[in-house]
Amino acid sequence: MADITTEVLVIGTGPAGSTSAALLSTYGVENIVINRYHWLANTPRAHITNQRTMEVLRDLGKEVEDEVYLNAMDQSLMGENVFCESLAGEEIGRMKSWGTHPLSKAEHLLSSPSFMNDLPQTFMEPILFKTACKRGTRARMSTEYKSHVQDADGVTTICLDRLTGREFTIRSKYLIGADGGNSLVAENEDLPFEGKMGVGGSMNIYFRADLSKYVAHRPSVLYWIMQPGADVGGIGMGLIRAIRPWNEWLIVWGYDINEPAPNVDQKMATEVARQLVGDPELEIDLISANTWTVNDAYATQLSKGRVFIMGDAAHRHPPSNGLGSNTSIQDAFNLAWKIAAVVKGEAGDSLLDSYSEERAPIAKQIVTRANQSIGEFGPIFEALGMTGGTDIEKIKANMDARCDSTPEAEAQRDALNAAIAFKKYEFDAHGVEMNQRYSSHATVTDGQIEPDFALDADLHYQPTTWPGARIPHSWLFDNQGGKHSTLDLAGGGAFTLFTGLGGKAWAAAAEKVAGDLSIKLTAHVIGPRQEYIDHTGDWARAREIGDAGCILTRPDQHVCWRYDALPDDPAAELTRVLTLILAR
Ligand code: FDA
Repeated sequence: MADITTEVLVIGTGPAGSTSAALLSTYGVENIVINRYHWLANTPRAHITNQRTMEVLRDLGKEVEDEVYLNAMDQSLMGENVFCESLAGEEIGRMKSWGTHPLSKAEHLLSSPSFMNDLPQTFMEPILFKTACKRGTRARMSTEYKSHVQDADGVTTICLDRLTGREFTIRSKYLIGADGGNSLVAENEDLPFEGKMGVGGSMNIYFRADLSKYVAHRPSVLYWIMQPGADVGGIGMGLIRAIRPWNEWLIVWGYDINEPAPNVDQKMATEVARQLVGDPELEIDLISANTWTVNDAYATQLSKGRVFIMGDAAHRHPPSNGLGSNTSIQDAFNLAWKIAAVVKGEAGDSLLDSYSEERAPIAKQIVTRANQSIGEFGPIFEALGMTGGTDIEKIKANMDARCDSTPEAEAQRDALNAAIAFKKYEFDAHGVEMNQRYSSHATVTDGQIEPDFALDADLHYQPTTWPGARIPHSWLFDNQGGKHSTLDLAGGGAFTLFTGLGGKAWAAAAEKVAGDLSIKLTAHVIGPRQEYIDHTGDWARAREIGDAGCILTRPDQHVCWRYDALPDDPAAELTRVLTLILAR
């Protein structure tokens, strides 16, 4: 007999665990979340918060989305992305990043009702955790997961109460391992991984110092420092990252993984900070320092029976492209509604298999992308002649050579410009952030072929209503002066059907099928004199089906089915499709 019972036990209160708990509580599923420490993240690791993540938080509630904006560094301050010898030294180049280039900004505005921003993990986690607890999650801090056993009906987990030193058991229907890059849940379940851990060494130096005079005129979250040794280990180049503009900072500097990890004390931290800032007199107020390793590994299977892994537990990679916490939050959005549907008896168990089918390819994609981005600093070092050893005089001469008026110098400048511009695959990869499409038995294509990408799929988001893709964003208007994204109509823990005036019969069918199947299914007829009006015609252009057709979305706002016209028996069609998706 277990000491405590619940529907879902979540291990970890990081972005993945806290989001899972918040979503489960929002969907009315009882859950407990535990964390081995007494509080949440104590260093500001993740920060780049992309539009898709903001849509998840918007789905959790406008108040959650607004609290993020209130605490975040605004997108307008994020993007100069400077490359320099040091903050005080010569600037070598820069590129507009994170959706701040005018062309990229237009794509961001057209793609989503939400905005990219910079929110350190120390701010994000409390918002997510608070949302979970307020909505019913029972949280237990200073509680360590030790092991679990699953059987046909549930999972029994042994936990250690670190305050009393006593072990106790929690019985749950499902277990979510959101326990980070050293996941014991993944290890105990023996889930398969590909790739390697510990491919590079890095140190974080977190400090306070007013550096406004070096940065306020070129606002950015990232300042890339090109000094000899900057390409050793780490994330491809030395980095000074703004945590709070412009007096709280994190330096990321690599070390050779084949050597023992350095002991980063006040003396060493100050030396590195002085060297990278380029101010030999700089005094820093050191908050903390630690070392970490660059990983290149992902799980090829994210669940076994009643146990799931997500976040860094499933994908382990460097911070390049800022995908870690974002993907963790998005993993939770994929899984939570499925667990809720099964727990409430609305879906068969095998719906849960679609979590791994849909998210394992994303895990592979983002781990590959993030590691590739490290290598893509190489051409910048090459263009500057910084790759041929550590002879400082020689490096300086090579760098100086680009300032000559010779054809060779012109070629060097061209190479440098191209190399910096190419870094958009790390710093402005909107497609990587927004193009996730699923293929599993929880989407029904009826044989419709997935549309190709017209532009580079890593750089540009391409809207489509092909089943598996997230529903495209278009603004719709009501009669009270309000505007609503199509994403606002979808989600909210429900399936949603979109149709036009010619498809009113779909809406009636949806109501009947929702009753027959006892599920939440909301229908919206979009058109003149309806609740939502497509005044601009943007939705008509985006929907890729006729006015009398329908688009069905899942609670995670991904399209799961579409039909081009009105069939003879729309209720029969909807029943067929929802029965398939929900594995009934
Ligand atoms: P996370 O590691 O955050 O949380 C794990 C949780 O499990 C913790 O609460 C821990 O205490 C708990 N836990 C572990 N073992 C346990 C046990 N046995 N029992 C109980 N509890 C246990 N990402 C991003 O999206 N954008 C970005 O800009 C960046 N930038 C960035 C910069 C730097 C320098 C780093 C190091 C990392 C990033 N990241 C990032 C990555 C991001 O920090 C990371 O991907 C997320 O924290 C992962 O969230 P999780 O919830 O999966 O794990």
